[in-house]
Amino acid sequence: MEINAQVGDISGVRADAIIVSLFEGAEQPTGATKVVDGALDGLITQLIQAREITGELYQVTVLHTFGRVPADRVTVVGLGKQEGLVLDRVRGVIAEALRVLQKMGLQRVASVLHGADQGGLHPEAVAQAIAEGALLGLYAFDKYSTKKPEPKIQELSLVAFDQAALEPVSRGLTRGKIMAQATNLARDLINEPANYLTPSEWARQAERLAQANGLECQVLDQEQMYEMGMGALLGVAQGSAQPPKLIVLRYRGDERGRKPTLGLVGKGITFDSGGLSLKPREAMDAMKGDMAGGAAVMAAVGAIAQLKLPLNVTTIVPATENMPGGRALKLGDILRAMNGKTIEILSTDAEGRLVLADALCYAHKLGLAPLVDVATLTGACSIALGPVYAGAFGNNQELIDRLLKAGEEAGEHFWAMPMHPDYKELIKSDVADMKNVGGRAGGAITAAQFLANFVDDTPWVHLDIAGSSFSGKDKTYNPKGGRGMAVRTLVNLARSLAAD
Ligand code: BES
Ligand code: ZN
Ligand code: ZN
Repeated sequence: MEINAQVGDISGVRADAIIVSLFEGAEQPTGATKVVDGALDGLITQLIQAREITGELYQVTVLHTFGRVPADRVTVVGLGKQEGLVLDRVRGVIAEALRVLQKMGLQRVASVLHGADQGGLHPEAVAQAIAEGALLGLYAFDKYSTKKPEPKIQELSLVAFDQAALEPVSRGLTRGKIMAQATNLARDLINEPANYLTPSEWARQAERLAQANGLECQVLDQEQMYEMGMGALLGVAQGSAQPPKLIVLRYRGDERGRKPTLGLVGKGITFDSGGLSLKPREAMDAMKGDMAGGAAVMAAVGAIAQLKLPLNVTTIVPATENMPGGRALKLGDILRAMNGKTIEILSTDAEGRLVLADALCYAHKLGLAPLVDVATLTGACSIALGPVYAGAFGNNQELIDRLLKAGEEAGEHFWAMPMHPDYKELIKSDVADMKNVGGRAGGAITAAQFLANFVDDTPWVHLDIAGSSFSGKDKTYNPKGGRGMAVRTLVNLARSLAAD
């Protein structure tokens, strides 16, 4: 789908459908909707009076125009109550509307900048939100289906009322496209089955991403991991027939290196069977998505490069399967991480923290700061926060606050979780420096405390996206499947750090 911007009066735009909007509770249309209503001889007003169009959030009404305006159809979308209007609703509204119009087989669509004139939102931000909502909402993972694909919307035009808005709208559009395409890249990686997306294939894709965006790509193999002392990562990998890869991508937007390099680390378990602590059979297929954190950091650095942000970023993805092969980790085994700390294995299903331990040590060794890791780490976090919020844990309140703000701007919610040192007791081992599980109670926090052992004093935030990484059904701009959670948050964080 191509998205462009133009200036004019939407009631005069030729298209298969134009999209205007209405606030809930409005007795009469205002702004562009009023102009279109006038051209339709008050049809929208009549339907409001008949309570058929209510402006309720995400309501989509499609009207045929029978030649009264150049467009074949007018679509009225509900923005919900005016007081509650936020950018994320704009993402959702455009996604809902476009899905309806695409199902009708339409190709060319134009939209106003919802919420920009009456709602008080900034045209640049609205344009970004529309581009994001459109590209994210129409995303489909259909590459393996041999059925003839349904026709897709080809063109979306954003219609700004005045010339002065055109420049900010174009800027917002460009940024929105980059953000959404990156999120969709992460979704593709998450949705890709584990027999295709092996660690080796992922490394090849990282090399291609690097080439396309001027990044540096370095892939460490098993032997190099061994030389660096990455015993925790190697321990997880040893039960699988697929060789592990540590995938490093580097973006240099601040050649003089005035600031330290932002480090993004993502869990890259391309399939988590649980290992010998085998997972139950229900929903094990979802564990092809246990690399969503790795997908997020990789997609984010691509977007950061496309946005040419003035900072340096390095991403690290420890990529491996977690399988119960003949050489697999056994319960009671003790592993030594790259920083020399020893770990007693009491569940081979708590593998994410093991691969992250060595990746965080490596990030620390490279001097990256601040550090953010993203991981589908614990079922406990999903139980605590459900599918809406992801957990944010860390050792630096300023960084946590910055991340939460970056998340809200992206429409991704993170909730700060406690890191009281008393939780550390729960992962004490009798025979090693720590054990890799701390029991069911507080499971997301003990996992975070485990990771804290590998970052030293570096400002660090850990994001546990286990509950929010998948969308169980089509919901506004998140179609069923991988969400690409955290991609846009990480890009916003990089923008915020670059602006310091
Ligand atoms: N990959 C899982 C966590 C997960 C669960 C992600 C559900 C997405 C949805 C992780 O490796 C895991 O198995 N964690 C265990 C930890 C436990 C053994 C301490 C868990 O949460 O049960
Ligand atoms: Zn696991
Ligand atoms: Zn896992």
